[in-house]
Amino acid sequence: MNFHTRKWVKPEDLNPNGTLFGGSLLRWIDEEAAIYAICQLDNQRVVTKFMSEINFVSSARKGDIIELGMTATHFGRTSITLRAEVRNKITRKSILTVEKMVFVNLDENGEPAPHGRTQIRYADEAFARYRESSRLAAPAPDQNAATGENVIERVEVDMVH
Ligand SMILES: CC(C)(COP(=O)(O)OP(=O)(O)OC[C@H]1O[C@@H](n2cnc3c(N)ncnc32)[C@H](O)[C@@H]1OP(=O)(O)O)[C@@H](O)C(=O)NCCC(=O)NCCS
Repeated sequence: MNFHTRKWVKPEDLNPNGTLFGGSLLRWIDEEAAIYAICQLDNQRVVTKFMSEINFVSSARKGDIIELGMTATHFGRTSITLRAEVRNKITRKSILTVEKMVFVNLDENGEPAPHGRTQIRYADEAFARYRESSRLAAPAPDQNAATGENVIERVEVDMVH
């Protein structure tokens, strides 16, 4: 499981008990999971279909830094299933787990559409595809147009999980 996104727990994220409000956490998790699904399925039109039991394992407090982790556990025909975990970045203590989050891949009419994916896509594959399509059109933005030299590293290794 990759933990990419970090959040800093601020006063506006707290419940009256002074700990992290569950609604804030769920919003962050849903957005993180949607981004993961979009990257994996290479389609912006994905929607949350199902979330299993949510286990608030422990609380976070103001000033804590937490991190959100995702991994794909199943690729269906039109769906992708993820597992999510949130933990304290420093202590690694688990804060929340969601065993099953199902996202559905949609077509332009909003209907479920086959996504064709069967396994987790990694950054090098996505990067190679990007470079290939860019080569057909124009120099990639990370290449010097005259020399073809790489000028910046465009994609971090773990940008796509
Ligand atoms: C997503 C939506 C288009 C799917 O429609 P549907 O009629 O359920 O579609 P299907 O029955 O063809 O199911 C689509 C996929 O979801 C899966 N699925 C459906 N219900 C499920 C459930 N309760 N639990 C887990 N997976 C489920 C199906 O197994 C199928 O996956 P597969 O093709 O990989 O086997 C429709 O339910 C919808 O629009 N829901 C609202 C989504 C939404 O607004 N989300 C919140 C905002 S992002």
